[in-house]
Amino acid sequence: MQIWEPIRRFFIYCYKCVTVGGNVLGTVEITGGIPLCGEVQIQGSKNAALPILAATALVHGTTVLYNCPHIIDITYMIRILEYLGCSVVWEDVHILRVDAANIQKTDVPAVYADKMRSSIILLGVLLARKHCARMPYPGGCVIGKRPIEMHLAALGQMGAQIETDASMLYASTMGLYGSEIQFEKNSVGATENAILAAVLSKGTTVINGAAMEPEITQLCMFLNNAGALIGGMGTKRLVIEGVSELKESSFRICADRIVAGTYLYAVAATRGEAVLHNAPVSQMQEVLLVGRQMGMQLKEGSETIYANARHANEPVPYVETKEYPGFPTDLQSVLMSALSLSDGQSIIKETIFEARFRIVEELQHMGSDIVIEESNQAVINGVKELTGTETYAKELRGGAALIVAGLAATGTTIVHDSYYVKRGYECITCDFRKLGGIIRG
Ligand code: EPU
Repeated sequence: MQIWEPIRRFFIYCYKCVTVGGNVLGTVEITGGIPLCGEVQIQGSKNAALPILAATALVHGTTVLYNCPHIIDITYMIRILEYLGCSVVWEDVHILRVDAANIQKTDVPAVYADKMRSSIILLGVLLARKHCARMPYPGGCVIGKRPIEMHLAALGQMGAQIETDASMLYASTMGLYGSEIQFEKNSVGATENAILAAVLSKGTTVINGAAMEPEITQLCMFLNNAGALIGGMGTKRLVIEGVSELKESSFRICADRIVAGTYLYAVAATRGEAVLHNAPVSQMQEVLLVGRQMGMQLKEGSETIYANARHANEPVPYVETKEYPGFPTDLQSVLMSALSLSDGQSIIKETIFEARFRIVEELQHMGSDIVIEESNQAVINGVKELTGTETYAKELRGGAALIVAGLAATGTTIVHDSYYVKRGYECITCDFRKLGGIIRG
């Protein structure tokens, strides 16, 4: 049988070369079992930066973004903007200057759109700016079906004609106009698309049932700073008065609440003690509450979290993922890694995405005792130790969860395909090394 293994791996390699553009060679190696201790800075937010970067294409001029994370998904968005005709320059490590005065093209190339979910929000941007857009269905992490009918319905209500075939979206408009939109479900991306289309449309748009995630508020703050008129920020009802143009501006992107939560739970998993600087504390109340339930001692400043997890052994009887301000789905797998080592039984219910337990199998290889019930509930029976082994990151947050498990495990853990993790974490290995972890890749 063993002779087939290299052949199997070779075919997996070829398949991934096609599906993730050859970025398959990432591997992270961890020697675990060391409590994470020290201080670390939290990077800028991926999910805030992506729509804001897309929104710069609405401006007939220059935008400067501060605290922009240097991650793969941002690079893809930059490539798309450049393709459309923008000039994009990193002025410093985290300062991005975008000049969108000369947007020529109206199509988004498949080579980038296929790889990220956020390509879909360029539909609203291009319709608003060029009255026309052509793009493939968006890609992104395989964590569920991830349909886009809410995006299309909202844009349709605002005057876009959209046709689809098996692989492409074709959209055009004689001019977008304000409308009353009712979202029946919480969707971050659909809310962003509707906002981006509405800011330059004729008249008033009301979005009822808008998502309230902090990344939406960031987008609204950026747009208002550039001259948009958006009211109701941070609520489920946004009112947008269309304006004729947006002006040049600069904006600082907030810190990443999911990265901060990942590092917090890594400290918990390893029973360490650390300070997180530049953390978006006010956006993390539910994450901190769960940390306290695990037995962490936490002290918060306005942008700082001190965490002592020396006795963070407690299970969390029940937590379910929820739209903001509930517990974020993006931290579900990382929490699962930390709870794998608690003294008792925890239950996590996933209510946002249907396929977000793909990483469980890998955690089980490391010794986690996790049972999936009714496809969306994980019952985690804490074990005394996890053991390092070879694992595969199947998606971004699941990959981060494996790294956290590896830091807490005895022996060596290899996380293959760490490319996925780099989509959202600027340098997770550097950050964990700052906290004393033995990790490279
Ligand atoms: N949904 C629909 N129809 C739609 C749109 C969404 O049924 O037209 C469903 C989805 O299938 C899902 C739920 O609504 O079940 C929520 O999806 P949402 O649209 O809110 O997710 P998204 O915009 O695709 C963003 C983040 C995700 C994060 C979710 C939920 C970005 C780039 N992505 O995705 O982040 O998990 O919101 O908070 O902002 C990540 O960073 O790892 C990540 C996946």
